[in-house]
Amino acid sequence: MYRLKTTPKSLPEWRKLARLAAAQNDRYLADELVRDRGRFARFSHRFEHLLLDLSKQPLNVKIEQTLLALAQASGLKGGIEKLFSGAAVNGSEQRAALHSALRTPAKQALRVDGVDLNAQVHRSLNKMARMVKRLHGRQWPGCTGAPLDTLVNIGVGGSDLGPQMACHALAEFAVGSAPNIHFVSCMDGSELARLLPQLNPHRTIFVLASKSFTTADTLANATTARQWLAQGTGRSQQVCLKRHFIGISCNLAAMTEWGIPVAHQLEIWDWVGGRYSLWSAIGFAIAAQIGLSGFRDMLAGAHSMDEHFRGTDFAQNLPVLLALSDIWNSNFHNIESRAVLPYDGRLMHLPAYLQQLEMESNGKGVTQDGKVVGCATAPIVWGAVGPNAQHAFYQLLHQGTRRVACELIAAIDRPASADNPAMAELAEQHRLTLANFLAQSRILAMGDAAAEEATALPHRRYRGGQPCTSLLLDSLNPRSLGQLIALYEHKVFVQSVIWKINPFDQWGVELGKRAAAGILPALQGEPASGGLDSSTVGLLAAMQRK
Ligand code: F6P
Repeated sequence: MYRLKTTPKSLPEWRKLARLAAAQNDRYLADELVRDRGRFARFSHRFEHLLLDLSKQPLNVKIEQTLLALAQASGLKGGIEKLFSGAAVNGSEQRAALHSALRTPAKQALRVDGVDLNAQVHRSLNKMARMVKRLHGRQWPGCTGAPLDTLVNIGVGGSDLGPQMACHALAEFAVGSAPNIHFVSCMDGSELARLLPQLNPHRTIFVLASKSFTTADTLANATTARQWLAQGTGRSQQVCLKRHFIGISCNLAAMTEWGIPVAHQLEIWDWVGGRYSLWSAIGFAIAAQIGLSGFRDMLAGAHSMDEHFRGTDFAQNLPVLLALSDIWNSNFHNIESRAVLPYDGRLMHLPAYLQQLEMESNGKGVTQDGKVVGCATAPIVWGAVGPNAQHAFYQLLHQGTRRVACELIAAIDRPASADNPAMAELAEQHRLTLANFLAQSRILAMGDAAAEEATALPHRRYRGGQPCTSLLLDSLNPRSLGQLIALYEHKVFVQSVIWKINPFDQWGVELGKRAAAGILPALQGEPASGGLDSSTVGLLAAMQRK
């Protein structure tokens, strides 16, 4: 769909960028930060509540212009229009990827193939609103009549990471009547084993979030939950199913077959990718926590980023600029990994969320038309809360041998809880954290040049040269979180267009699911299907001896 006759590397802009990269030495970034007092003004960009600062990236005006020209030459403009208009941008599955439609205001019509998608979206949102309202009003009794006040989200991947990340980030926006919310994802049941003894089965509702409703991990946890409910309430599983489960999926038939009443089913659609689904009913736990009005604020924030992405010149377009600086590091400086470092404990789950968003989307090796892509695609994304990581892996970032691109994220306003006089010390902790944010990004980028005094001792020297992106939110709230997530979603899309890959499929996860299903019988005492290699046979035998 994009100019597929070319490969990413065959564009003249790509070759020009390679020459520009070869001309930069290891000292480039530190030297520029010492020399150029105007870097911040030139390389930082604002959109509403978000400031994207690329001044600690090894960029200059010529490089930035060439990167922008690469985006143009790759057909990004047309790609964006196709994405928003509902074209089948997911080529291998012939599907649209319309997560943007999930946050389009009710009055804005969006018809694709004669179907009014916006009407579908808002019907589902309204149904979700009614269900949340019943829970908040304690008007949803369990099978023994007690009102349900505890919610456990069972899902995995996109049906877990997004809602969990957002619920943690926005905990202080929880409405008073919100249920207690927990997340369970792990296939082995270890989370349920720890959690269930603390819960009251008479008062617990499970939200089964699964786009496909075939995911083994989720169904296994759901089956355990169903059994626990029946034992704990003394009612049959059939009776428990009527009151204690909400299902969210595109597979309505499978939800019904599993036993979830239609009234408690929320629909999503095949044009919503799993890792892009927290805006849909998959975000039920978020809405249950911050209320529908908070959830709508988050959608509105994301929508404002959609409009910015679609309508802003690339030179001021935050998702485009973020994508291009990442491409500069990975494709032209061969930096293979990027650390996501929130300087805010509320964003603790952001690295794991971005790991799926970026690595499942762009961890691809063939172009949309099936050719070997021929350049590096998604970097390895990892990370942790910055201040904690300072006491763990920053040693490697500062003095190790590997180059790592670093992304530091913070909210300028202190958390609302710091306004409580009894918690005044929190405001001081917030300032301490921001000071560390500033100090660390400076040292990562500049190395010894950021130190007050020079040392000749090799083990005390700081190499510097780690490219750093700083992302500052005016404050962390539903709207700004919506903007931040949509920023990353669109950044991933921009990169996919430049690499000419499909960011919306994930065939790489399928073989493992089939292989595990084939091996499972062997652990149940039956022959495994298909011949197994000697290593696997040996491990299987060791497991069976126990
Ligand atoms: O196996 C990968 C994956 O399909 C992800 O893309 C998805 O987010 C996750 O599993 C969960 O899938 P589902 O929502 O269908 O249970």
